[in-house]
Amino acid sequence: MIKRFTYGRPYQTDSVVTKLADTKGAPDFGKVSKTGGFSWTYKLDKDDAIFGLGETMRNINKRGYEFISWNSDQPDQDESVKSLYGSHNFIIIFGKKTFAVYFDYPGKLTFDLGYTNQDEINVHCDKAHLDVYFITPKEKNNSLKDLVQQFRVLTGSSYIPPRWAFGFSMSRWGYKTQKDFETVWKKYRKLGIPMDSICMDIDYMTDYEDFTLDEKKFPEFDLFARKLRKDGVRLVPIIDAGIKKQEGYSVYDEAVKKGYDIKKKDGEQFVGGVWPGDSVFPDFLNPEARSWFGQKYQVLTSRGIEGFWNDMNEPALFYSKETLSKAYEKFDELRGKPLDVKTFFEFKDIGKNIANNPEDYSSFYHSVPAKIAGGFALTKPDKDGNVLVCHSDVHNIFGFNMTRGAQDAFKTFDSKKRTLIYSRSSYIGAHRYGGIWTGDNHSYWQDILLSLHQMASLNMTGFMFTGSDIGGFNADTTRDLLLRWLSFGIFTPLCRNHSANGTRNQEFYEYEKPEDFKSVLDLRYALIPYLYSEFVKASLKDEMYFRPLAFDYQNDARAVNCEDQIMLGDGIMLAPVYVQNAKGRYVYLPENMVKVVWQGGKVKSQETLKAGDHFVEMPLNAVVFFVKKGHIVPLCKPAKDSDSLDTSKLTIVGDEKKGVFYELYEDDGYTTEITMAGRVRKVSR
Ligand code: GLC
Repeated sequence: MIKRFTYGRPYQTDSVVTKLADTKGAPDFGKVSKTGGFSWTYKLDKDDAIFGLGETMRNINKRGYEFISWNSDQPDQDESVKSLYGSHNFIIIFGKKTFAVYFDYPGKLTFDLGYTNQDEINVHCDKAHLDVYFITPKEKNNSLKDLVQQFRVLTGSSYIPPRWAFGFSMSRWGYKTQKDFETVWKKYRKLGIPMDSICMDIDYMTDYEDFTLDEKKFPEFDLFARKLRKDGVRLVPIIDAGIKKQEGYSVYDEAVKKGYDIKKKDGEQFVGGVWPGDSVFPDFLNPEARSWFGQKYQVLTSRGIEGFWNDMNEPALFYSKETLSKAYEKFDELRGKPLDVKTFFEFKDIGKNIANNPEDYSSFYHSVPAKIAGGFALTKPDKDGNVLVCHSDVHNIFGFNMTRGAQDAFKTFDSKKRTLIYSRSSYIGAHRYGGIWTGDNHSYWQDILLSLHQMASLNMTGFMFTGSDIGGFNADTTRDLLLRWLSFGIFTPLCRNHSANGTRNQEFYEYEKPEDFKSVLDLRYALIPYLYSEFVKASLKDEMYFRPLAFDYQNDARAVNCEDQIMLGDGIMLAPVYVQNAKGRYVYLPENMVKVVWQGGKVKSQETLKAGDHFVEMPLNAVVFFVKKGHIVPLCKPAKDSDSLDTSKLTIVGDEKKGVFYELYEDDGYTTEITMAGRVRKVSR
């Protein structure tokens, strides 16, 4: 059961699709205060766990730290980080009392989850204009799955990408020319390593101008893209939120002419620095501006492009005119002076406040229809019925609306075909329009575990088409890290190897014995029919593709506390290696399971292990996964790309008992009318 409580006049974020009546009175859980903003406090029992919050740092159980919903370009992801690229304000309290809460608030929201007082939750924001939804389990057994499902029905079904998006994607910031892409393609194909797409990072554009393609670097782009496509490889270009401030660049000129560039209070254009240098930002919160920008993607879809990634849409600001001039002033003030303990640190920190400065986010405004602005409207409606709202009040829905504009536009280009899109910035609701990737992680072992935590939490909030940069984005990877990470990454819906300019090359062919990487990716391709089927079913039924163990075994305290294993679909449990030089690891089995070992491009062994703790050997070039009792997993023959997979002959791993079957969902991979009717077949041994 869901109860909605409305405080003040909320901004209509459109994160919710089921409109519920407002409930009068106080919520059944915790206390609300509206002094100096809004806050909700709740006394925790000593064993209560807290799940949720989607894309955040730290564990699956979020208890004990503070998290701040404030979409941030955050390249230094360590334990201390409180804000990442997305804001997913959904938490579940599991324990003495079990319930969930969703705070629909587009500005900065702080989740103090036992940080100030170990036994207290305090969620607060500056303005008391928000909708809060309290969800209680339908069933007496306090089912966590049921709580999430109710929330997912409330917020709408998760985006389903085309099936080819489940194929492996190779990416690197640094591929510049047609030749670079050709090399990647040829080398992968030569070694027989499966691949479905190559991402085009910012260097494909002319001067980092969105919706351009540097024809000098790509002398025969259309022919080249067709050649790749024929071989099962799609090119996936990046689109950035900032538009280069450059007269004569048509997208900029149009934005200015139509008034879609974001402005400051006095009407002056807001200029911020991103890749092209001085840039302006489309007002994605304004429906007309959003749809105008969305239509621009056609420049690329008309040239055969079928997928995109939206970046820097928090929005990331390297600088603004204002932060730069303040920094120069400070330099001048300190120039020539002897530096002491105070001034030395002031000097050192000058650069720190230039990027993503909160003052900048408070200095520009969106022009939005009065009926959605609620208590955030700062002006009377203009002749078009629009009012101004300050960006910092609605900061967290900027990236959401960029993705929404793109997806709405794709449907107008071709209503019969799915287009791939995933974004860096997000808010709940964006999960209906596209996927996300988890941003600029590092080639650190702990980031494999971080990815597992994020997959579990993101799935609760509806973001199912997601994955982390496999191998790590920042810092230099190593062969063993890449292999271990890939052995987990082949199970994530978005399976992409991506790395930063200047780091060690991360293509699998750069390392000795590339056949080991091929073997791991062969398993991905063998699993695609199952992974895709589980994904689509989860989306259609508002269930989760990945789940913490707590969701399947909520009466088992060991499972509830498990932070380094995860459930996938109806039948799989994963326990990745995330420690260098480990020969294997301890795995906790909440019930009897079949251990499946994949090595040398095939199923090497299957063995039933009893419930309990096991040290499981996991050679570097093997993938080990577990299949739940009463479940089977079908595998097809691997192929070089997802379109070439033949699902007519399947081999089965998992429970050997007679009569166990799996319901495999299959479609053409593109259709936009996605239902299970007529598309599910029973498979068994
Ligand atoms: C951002 C993105 C990263 C991309 C880079 C250059 O850091 O998160 O994925 O490679 O920008 O476009």
